Amino acid sequence: MHDVLPADSGLWRHLEDIVQDVLDGYGYREIRVPVMEKTELFSRSIGEVTDIVEKEMYTFEDRNGDSLTLRPEATAGCVRAGVEHGLFHNQEQRVWYRGPMFRHERPQKGRYRQFHQVGAEVFGLAGPDVDVELMLISRAFWQRLGLEENVELHLNTLGNADERANHREELVRFLVRHAERLDAASCERIHSNPMRVLDSKSAQTREVLLEAPRLWDFLGEASRVHFEGVQYMLEAAGVSFTLNHSLVRGLDYYTRTVFEWVTRDLGAQGTVCGGGRYDGLVGLLGGRETPAAGFAMGLERLVLLLQQKGVAADDAPHVYLVSAADTARAQALVLAEALRAALPALRVQTHCGEGGFKAQFRRADRSGAHYALVVGEEEAQRGEVSVKPLRGGGSQQTVAREGLIERLRQLLSLRAGAPRVAGDGNISSESEHG
Ligand code: HAM
Repeated sequence: MHDVLPADSGLWRHLEDIVQDVLDGYGYREIRVPVMEKTELFSRSIGEVTDIVEKEMYTFEDRNGDSLTLRPEATAGCVRAGVEHGLFHNQEQRVWYRGPMFRHERPQKGRYRQFHQVGAEVFGLAGPDVDVELMLISRAFWQRLGLEENVELHLNTLGNADERANHREELVRFLVRHAERLDAASCERIHSNPMRVLDSKSAQTREVLLEAPRLWDFLGEASRVHFEGVQYMLEAAGVSFTLNHSLVRGLDYYTRTVFEWVTRDLGAQGTVCGGGRYDGLVGLLGGRETPAAGFAMGLERLVLLLQQKGVAADDAPHVYLVSAADTARAQALVLAEALRAALPALRVQTHCGEGGFKAQFRRADRSGAHYALVVGEEEAQRGEVSVKPLRGGGSQQTVAREGLIERLRQLLSLRAGAPRVAGDGNISSESEHG
């Protein structure tokens, strides 16, 4: 579990703002569910024989003796909330969420015990168009973030419950026949979760699996048509993808379409986004049968990718007020208030505490501010302010107090709200200086 320090939080906000903007553009609405739920909710939905439920959950008893778990993911919570509040009765729902998730994994670059996801879920729509919409949303994230070149889409179908059961029978038979050549973890899963064996990282196991029966050969007409529909629409939308029949995902609730966006730029933890269809989960958790699909992406991994590309948020103050003591200091505070009121997007930092001009300019520089506004004794008497560029050259000018707001408006092209981003990533950054 880690801290996000002020030096990095600007980039987090940049990422979160873009993601939120994209989701707004697709008509998704935010849902906020609790960070803990009854343990049973996760074990039933994610699956008893999964890494998450077997060894990664933060589970404890509360004072009433109820077993609670810090959410390892939010799909189960969304379904629980939807059933509880009747959101699925003859309605479609398109929702998104953001927040911390908890998994007791071995920490390494890109893998943490508290991490953050943004996810989206759609309920009540059964067609391949929704699956594709979810992939288009994620593509829009990469486009807006300048990460399109860094990720690729992997696609698979897991069929429906019957098709999987038929495949499973054959797969178990195959695995038993080749058990002596499988790695130990895979051997243990032959009967409990044979699909997960397909995901094994062991080279020898992977070699054995080349001959394993493929789920695709067990698909019925409807599942095949669905999967073809997904591929057809992805192609129509110009999204390239790789078919990957060993893509099985680490959670048991999926049916039919599953997908992952992976990058080669983060070492072992290369999956930045994963999701798929889960038509059986609402029914499993006590609701009326409702088709559903969704995805979630790991924000830490995206922040790492952005940092690797040299993208940095520009959230430093625009101006830093330097002032002489006493009267001039009071005037500087009043002036700063007037500037903030007149220019809401302006970031103004005033010098507080001791320090002569030299020390104040040092601080102004360290703050990253673009301009120092100087209210010395002379300026205070004459009702003037000196504007001294701290970055990118230019000479100091003295302006009358009344003209300052207009002058700053000219100097800085101000945009309300989010910190802007500079760097050599693909994110555009028009010049801060007007
Ligand atoms: P997931 O594949 O378990 O799926 O997680 C989604 C993403 O969360 C991963 O691709 C990864 O980027 C990030 N992530 C997972 N574990 C960690 C970790 N320990 N540290 C950092 N990042 C991590 C789900 O959670 C499903 N609920 C997705 C979904 C939504 N499927 C349908 N709807």
